Amino acid sequence: MLYLDYAATAPLLPSVKDIYIRSLDEDFANPHASHSLGRRLSTEVDLIRKEILQDLKLSGQVIFTGSATESNNLVLSQFAQKKVVTSLVYHPSLLNRVRDEISKLSVNDIGQIDIEKSEELICQAELISLQWVNNQFGTIENINEVCEFIRSKNSECWIHIDAVQVLGKTPFNLKDDNFDSLSLSGHKIGAPKGIGCLILKEKHLEKMNPLFYGGNQEFGLRSSTLSTPLVKAFGQALKLSASLTEEYFQSARENRQKIIQILKNVFKEKAGFPFEERSCSNIVGFFIKGLSSDVFMRCMEERNVYLSSSSACSSKNKKENLALKELGYDLKMQKSFIRLSFGQNLAEEELELLEESLEKAWEDIEFLIS
Ligand SMILES: Cc1ncc(COP(=O)(O)O)c(C=O)c1O
Repeated sequence: MLYLDYAATAPLLPSVKDIYIRSLDEDFANPHASHSLGRRLSTEVDLIRKEILQDLKLSGQVIFTGSATESNNLVLSQFAQKKVVTSLVYHPSLLNRVRDEISKLSVNDIGQIDIEKSEELICQAELISLQWVNNQFGTIENINEVCEFIRSKNSECWIHIDAVQVLGKTPFNLKDDNFDSLSLSGHKIGAPKGIGCLILKEKHLEKMNPLFYGGNQEFGLRSSTLSTPLVKAFGQALKLSASLTEEYFQSARENRQKIIQILKNVFKEKAGFPFEERSCSNIVGFFIKGLSSDVFMRCMEERNVYLSSSSACSSKNKKENLALKELGYDLKMQKSFIRLSFGQNLAEEELELLEESLEKAWEDIEFLIS
């Protein structure tokens, strides 16, 4: 099997799995209980909060959530009827709650914010939501530059950053002054599903309203009993991905180029790679002109190669790909978009398997090209 859908979910990392399983056994107590078993877990969880901030070189408070979708919604819910500025090229969890009310940032042809064209909106905004790495095309936003521009034009504006696709795909180098809140997700970096976090600047903690109410855990923002095993697994996965070196990213970029070359060899001029230049190291988003990506995906699946024709979250919405539409692609092009995403560098044999599977798939479906 060749799994090339890491941007949807990454497999559990071995050391994360060990920590998780051990914690399931050992850390069964309620971390909010006042007896010593609970107090021990609460201390350990607080230590992980500190380590996450240290690993990312950020300041603020870490609020554990069930997912990045929840983290994004927690922030958006504070801005009902307020001026929210964002982009349709982003993940639906940054959009669905506010889609009818948002003002759209101008983006260039690969989905990066055009700050000059967006200046007027930026000046009026109360919340600007940004996505650092695009989950579909892999484009990296010039995040520090965009945030500094926003700060210089509108110092009062809340900057929220969805950084879900950053760790492990491009170096995490956000300047601490450049955000008010930031979302992360465990299952994109080798932790189990069901854990994410919101990093929030301390000055905002008091003003925030929870999404739901109960026992006031997580600073009153996320009532419900925290899962210590999930927190420990997340902490370990984050530590590993935050410690990846420039050599790792360099070799991941080389690997990515090899994959693009294989695709170009097989599909020749039928394949288009508009996002190639500014894409993160672990996502290849491309089009095969005239071919339905769903057909292609199924054909690869028959050969035990798993990839994606859109983001997993939007694959149930069969109509339009809003992000590609926003970049000006018509429905036919939207339906010919394919995403390959991978984790640690692929071995030579895996690259060979990919090439062989692509060639065979192409032999089977070339005649379908319209
Ligand atoms: C950029 C981005 N933001 C948010 C999410 C949602 O993350 P979660 O699955 O943790 O809710 C995803 C998942 O696909 C994503 O890619």
